[in-house]
Amino acid sequence: MIKANGKTFLLQGKNYSYAMHVLESGFLQHLYYGGKITETDLDYLIEIGDTNAPHIDMNMDMAFDRMLSEYGFYARGDYREATAVFERKDGASMSRLRYQSYRVEKGAPNVKGMPHVRQGDETLVITLKDDFSDIAVDLYYTVCDDSDVLVRSAVIRNTGCEAIMLKKAFSFRAQLPNGNYRMMRLAGTWGQERIPEIAPIAHGITRLQSIQGCTSHNTNCFMGILKEGCTEDSGECFGIQLIYSGSFALTAEWCKNGPLTLQGGICDTGFSWELNGGEEFVTPQALLTYSGEGIGGMSRSIHDFLRERVINPAYVYKRRPIVVNNWEATYFDFNEEKLFPIIDEAGKLGIDTFVLDDGWFGKRDSDWSGLGDWFVNEKKLKGGLKTIIDRCKKNGLKFGLWFEPEMVNEDSDLFRAHPDWAIHKDGVEPCRSRQQLVLDFTRKDVVDYIFGVVSKVLKENEISYVKWDMNRNITEVYSAQLPAHRQGEFMHRYILGVYDLAERLTSAFPNVFFEGCAGGGGRFDAGMLYYFSQIWTSDDTDGFERTKIEWGTSVCYPLSAMSCHVSVCPNHQTQRITPFETRGNVASLGAFGYELDLSKMTEEEKELTKAQIESYKRTSELILKGDLYRLMNPLEKNYFCVMVVSKDKSEAYVVGERILGIPCDYNQYLYLCGLDENALYKIEELNITASGKALQNAGLLLPKLSDFGSWAWHLKKV
Ligand code: DGJ
Repeated sequence: MIKANGKTFLLQGKNYSYAMHVLESGFLQHLYYGGKITETDLDYLIEIGDTNAPHIDMNMDMAFDRMLSEYGFYARGDYREATAVFERKDGASMSRLRYQSYRVEKGAPNVKGMPHVRQGDETLVITLKDDFSDIAVDLYYTVCDDSDVLVRSAVIRNTGCEAIMLKKAFSFRAQLPNGNYRMMRLAGTWGQERIPEIAPIAHGITRLQSIQGCTSHNTNCFMGILKEGCTEDSGECFGIQLIYSGSFALTAEWCKNGPLTLQGGICDTGFSWELNGGEEFVTPQALLTYSGEGIGGMSRSIHDFLRERVINPAYVYKRRPIVVNNWEATYFDFNEEKLFPIIDEAGKLGIDTFVLDDGWFGKRDSDWSGLGDWFVNEKKLKGGLKTIIDRCKKNGLKFGLWFEPEMVNEDSDLFRAHPDWAIHKDGVEPCRSRQQLVLDFTRKDVVDYIFGVVSKVLKENEISYVKWDMNRNITEVYSAQLPAHRQGEFMHRYILGVYDLAERLTSAFPNVFFEGCAGGGGRFDAGMLYYFSQIWTSDDTDGFERTKIEWGTSVCYPLSAMSCHVSVCPNHQTQRITPFETRGNVASLGAFGYELDLSKMTEEEKELTKAQIESYKRTSELILKGDLYRLMNPLEKNYFCVMVVSKDKSEAYVVGERILGIPCDYNQYLYLCGLDENALYKIEELNITASGKALQNAGLLLPKLSDFGSWAWHLKKV
């Protein structure tokens, strides 16, 4: 609900309030963000906010520095990092933004060309006007009455005739009063994506960013801010994440005894955008989540929000196909003789879809060649894709196919025909990563061409699943098609090109299920999830390492978004040996599948696979729709455990793992969460019946297991 009168603004979500106030001097002051308050508290908030309000002498620059504000400006007394910078024709870029007007709209804004929130209840738009230029900034706040997520973005408009150069255009500023906060970030690298890290916020600026052209393996576009005492299960915290997949920045700035300033959006390093008279620049949306129930509560709110309002409604709650993917089974070295036994076995085991990974096209026998040539390699696959698809159909399977639409190898027909289509700068030797170059997706003709060739393959074959991969970062950051003064637009235009292709392909082929991927989980974000309902979480499928990745990823993405497969041992990434059951249990906490040569499995593994598939079919509703409770953190304990509870609390699924056998640590209790305290639950595998209260308060004695031993329990109300 939004209460606005041009003087005060109160946004009321499910459990949070967000308040602002227009000072007499015209500055928009932030008043409050936290647990729910009422309208009658506004006068008190205005009174306490008054101490730092720059409304007496507007040239007392220090005052701006202390004011809790909604969008920061540059070189006029707000010495915190600017939220946006507008450079005028004469080179001047000082600005000072003042309130001009507001409006309240029904629903959520329909952002064109970028992923966005599909539904909301009401949107407040506050317009600020620069004192020195023809720039107006519209601040968007979308509120959903039944959610703790507030959607923020800004639209920067040039209302004059002269071009203005945007040097920075963040999506939002949010403020918290002076205090001791800790930051949670999801950091990592290839094979160890989104490992949570919590550290105190020190004075100065803490910046999470990617300048890689994608959200990256290293730092996810999420920042958690934890108030003192916040834990997984209790206390207050805030989550900030972007619906964006390109280079980004999220910053937290704390000046001595001052407020904490949170901002973010498109990364400003190397960024600029020419805004001609009458034009506007739309920034990506940011999701701000409040939780009074710890990190776990924040995650549950975000999961619900992404499922209900961001991910494609046609697929979000549909049982995901259980796939077998041939990548780790064969890598590039396959032909029908190698693939058919996998497909035949998949049919016997009850798998839904066979996904043919990298290597089916062009001259693609290694990563040195072929990318860009999206024509089947008939030397490898003699009968084309048709024979493979027919074999799948004979076994009752659907067929999925891998593409890497944004890339090109120099050894490809595409590159030979259009060398200028690869990102490059004449005279500069391009950086090669995985022997490939990136196509210049800022160019419409390049995106159109890729749309045409990928569409042709999808039209001519019975393909029900696409895995869209992206295996390198962007370097050279230059397009020969853009004039010199617009080169700063490259990175954002690139990702707009990716969104354009994703939008066109997913709209043209609504019956094809799309999965995202980026050299493992290098582009795992809410922007990609708008188009692709699930994303390959990591190339690391090790039965233990994956627990950390799933723990961290689940902080701000729902389980159903995480594609998780069972692979062979020794694991290809870690060389570790873990039990087959454990690999299955860990993978069952996401969109489930296999990544191995099924025909080489032992009879015992085949029986286990059948049981895993049966179990997954039973739990998939929980994975798609349930509430997640993280119980034992593998980064802190010798155990991993999480559980998912159905919304009506009638059933639950608990998965855990003991990491190492350590003498005398057997008397460990597990306290379940999220159950109906007054109901009785039966835990099938343990043959235990107990009340929700007992399972939560007295707990369960953990089973005695050896290294990497695991459990998966199904609970049902009796
Ligand atoms: C990286 C992905 O993460 C893998 O699953 C696989 O698809 C390879 N790329 C193929 O090149």
